Amino acid sequence: MSDVLELLDVSVVRDGRALVDDVSWAVKEGERWVILGPNGAGKTTLLNIASSYLFPTTGTASILGEQLGKPGTDVFELRPRIGMAGAAMAEKMPKRQTVLQVVLTAAYGMTATWHEDYEEVDEQRARAFLDRLGMTEFLDRKFGTLSEGERKRTLIARAMMTDPELLLLDEPAAGLDLGGREDLVRRLGRLAKDPYAPSMVMVTHHVEEIAPGFTHVLMIRQGKVLAAGPMETELSSRNLSLCFGLPLVVEQRGNRWTAQGLPLG
Ligand SMILES: Nc1ncnc2c1ncn2[C@@H]1O[C@H](COP(=O)(O)OP(=O)(O)OP(=O)(O)O)[C@@H](O)[C@H]1O
Ligand SMILES: [Mg+2]
Repeated sequence: MSDVLELLDVSVVRDGRALVDDVSWAVKEGERWVILGPNGAGKTTLLNIASSYLFPTTGTASILGEQLGKPGTDVFELRPRIGMAGAAMAEKMPKRQTVLQVVLTAAYGMTATWHEDYEEVDEQRARAFLDRLGMTEFLDRKFGTLSEGERKRTLIARAMMTDPELLLLDEPAAGLDLGGREDLVRRLGRLAKDPYAPSMVMVTHHVEEIAPGFTHVLMIRQGKVLAAGPMETELSSRNLSLCFGLPLVVEQRGNRWTAQGLPLG
């Protein structure tokens, strides 16, 4: 199987500090990864590399077989092959665009300009993705008026629009209520099990948000890899406790995960 993502000894240094510290990590085709780690661990920085918007200070990063910074690698050809949904994206979207427009503009690799001459076939695709994410009744709503959960679902539909080979999700369930979270986990689970769906990497803060169908976990702490591998072996109480620096117990119930701190005393 070929590598969707391959990081070799990657560091990102800013102001003399390594935000990502000597990370080697590979995502193979068909794998769906979850990234866990405390605030400031470097999760979003890693996704920024994986989306080709940030180049490593040292080490090499290859995305979909193209090495960043190498002559011949054109990030503008690479970017449409990668779908990204995260908080930073939400801020870039013009609030006055409708939900349908926000998704449609992705087909043309831009965040703002709105032409009247979108292809009918693109509009149908946009509607279909929005429908899969339960957004059909919001097509004409202004993006700026959406709730957090509706906004998240719109951005995931948008990220799917270019038919990416790699889908990157940065805390897709943050800010959702319990129902919204469960709904999103169910939809992501469906996507994760779809053989035609892209490879996925999702950053989350809560093991409860890991949808069935995700296969691997990367745990990072202070920019360093603490654990990386299949969920069943690596998502252990020991690793999670080391990652977050306090005693935690992680349990699998059915096909979902929970974690809690050990009671004191
Ligand atoms: N351009 C930058 N210059 C200096 N420091 C930065 C820069 N970008 C990020 N950082 C720092 O790098 C560290 C990692 O940031 P990052 O956003 O990757 O963390 P994260 O794991 O996504 O955290 P969170 O869970 O809070 O989203 C943080 O301490 C952050 O303050
Ligand atoms: Mg982050």
